Amino acid sequence: MTAKELRKKYTDFFMSKGHAVIGSAPLVPENDPTVLFTTAGMHPLVPFLLGQKHPQGKRLVNCQKCIRTGDIDEVGDPVHLTFFEMLGNWSLGDYFKKDAIEFSFEFLSSPKWLGLPLEKLAVTVFEGDSDAPFDEEAYNLWLKLGINPDKIAKRPKKDNWWGPAGQTGPCGPDTEMFFWTGNENVPAIFTPDDRKWVEIWNDVFMQYNKNADSVYEPLTQTNVDTGMGVERVTAILQGKSSCYETELFAPLFEKINELKKITPTDSSRSERIIADHIRAATFIMADGVIPGNVDQSYVLRRLIRRAVREGRKLGIESGFTHLISEEVIGHYSDVYPELAKKRDAILEALNNEESQFEKTLEKGTREFEKLIARVPAHVTTKIISGKNAFYLYETYGFPLELTEEMAKEQGFAVDNDGFGKSYQKHQELSRLGAEQKFKGGLADNSEMTTNLHTATHLLHQALRKVLGDHVAQKGSNITGERLRFDFSHTDKMTPEQISKVEDIVNEMISGNLEVKCAEMTVEEAKDGGAIGLFAERYGERVKVYSIGDFSREICGGPHADNTLKLGKFKILKEESSSQGVRRIKAILTV
Ligand code: ALA
Repeated sequence: MTAKELRKKYTDFFMSKGHAVIGSAPLVPENDPTVLFTTAGMHPLVPFLLGQKHPQGKRLVNCQKCIRTGDIDEVGDPVHLTFFEMLGNWSLGDYFKKDAIEFSFEFLSSPKWLGLPLEKLAVTVFEGDSDAPFDEEAYNLWLKLGINPDKIAKRPKKDNWWGPAGQTGPCGPDTEMFFWTGNENVPAIFTPDDRKWVEIWNDVFMQYNKNADSVYEPLTQTNVDTGMGVERVTAILQGKSSCYETELFAPLFEKINELKKITPTDSSRSERIIADHIRAATFIMADGVIPGNVDQSYVLRRLIRRAVREGRKLGIESGFTHLISEEVIGHYSDVYPELAKKRDAILEALNNEESQFEKTLEKGTREFEKLIARVPAHVTTKIISGKNAFYLYETYGFPLELTEEMAKEQGFAVDNDGFGKSYQKHQELSRLGAEQKFKGGLADNSEMTTNLHTATHLLHQALRKVLGDHVAQKGSNITGERLRFDFSHTDKMTPEQISKVEDIVNEMISGNLEVKCAEMTVEEAKDGGAIGLFAERYGERVKVYSIGDFSREICGGPHADNTLKLGKFKILKEESSSQGVRRIKAILTV
């Protein structure tokens, strides 16, 4: 079975159980400051898990693009990926444990669907602690379906719980399904830590709300959130031991092998890094990110640069990343048409980044040689300080491993701990840790972010009034402190235009306008003059938020119910974001 067939089987199965198919949301979350990338299928559904009505009902299914960079340095081994696709089904206050587990079991074991042999399946359930009891219901459901008790492991919160770690918000126990991938007989007793048992699916039961006193109170709306890794399950269905051996990667490796001039001993590691990183980079760029020095753009830069370095190790000539990316675009565009749409921009950005990195690499190498030359010949312990290693990293984009490698060639060591300390201080990078596991999105619908979101709609409309109807949203990012809004417009805004926009927004705020939400079809929304870029994310029914008579926009929410709450709007900065796109940062004050 190919990945394509798997995606189809999964959605067909859940459609047959009354689920509506929703599209994949972009990789860059629109209104969630807590993570840089969408890390799970539930992520774009947060408002609906918290009780908002979803236009397509209470049972949903999709295949979601995800990025998890927590393990970026692990990529290169046979199992780790930064980009992956997650199949998921959701119950928004509809069915709960019994149906969820029965659906999972039927899909995995029925010959009509995946037909995996029952004896190779095992599961984990939450063992219980002082916060919440043992998930006896899940345990008994699996037993009833014929899973042997020796194949059901009880595990603590650190393994079988999903939700905001250390924060407030909805959360609950989960049950994870594993498949035996070893060549030898299935062991009699299931030990989830054995790497030959591969986790393939996770059913999360959101039944608690962790409140500010760290008490787990039962939720009124209980939800199911599940996630199955497409790459892993494809590999299992094909009897392959690694995601990298499936058709999802074959065209990339073919291309790499065609370009490769030398084969060092760790050649397959380099090949996997190139394939994974360029695949991830291509998808990230298709969602509008270009390489840069902060947030998502920095992660993207890191992925591309790392791939370029690995390419050099294989003797691949410069200007190659776009060739790999073309293979990604070719393979995936029927499922993710945004790749083909953005093809030219993606390939150009890769070329630019690659040649810029080459120059940096050259300058950095000269700088490195100067550092080495400063150490007198008679010094016996030759060390590059953490500070210098970090300087090479920050200024010339030298990953630590590159500095280490070059140092080794000259008989030097690198102070890794010192590097780590400098690295931690680096502000922008500290956010990377936050996305390792999705933690806070559920909790962070704070009033300020909600108000800033409503202010963003006012800003969008005010910009159209002052600059013209060509202004359209190109991106939005809101933290608890400020909003950031990218929009199509070529010229720098004049100070007059900026203050005019501010005045209009403030006038609307003090106009005591009500914010209302209505559900309708995309066509009705467009006919009614609603703006909004993200129609392809929704099914045919969408939500339109209107602010008085001033603004009408297709949007998932949430919003303030009245503009008076917003306070005073101020633009802090207007700058270029990319070709033909301007960026505004603005705040609300009391
Ligand atoms: N959100 C759950 C996960 O990512 C399903 O594992």
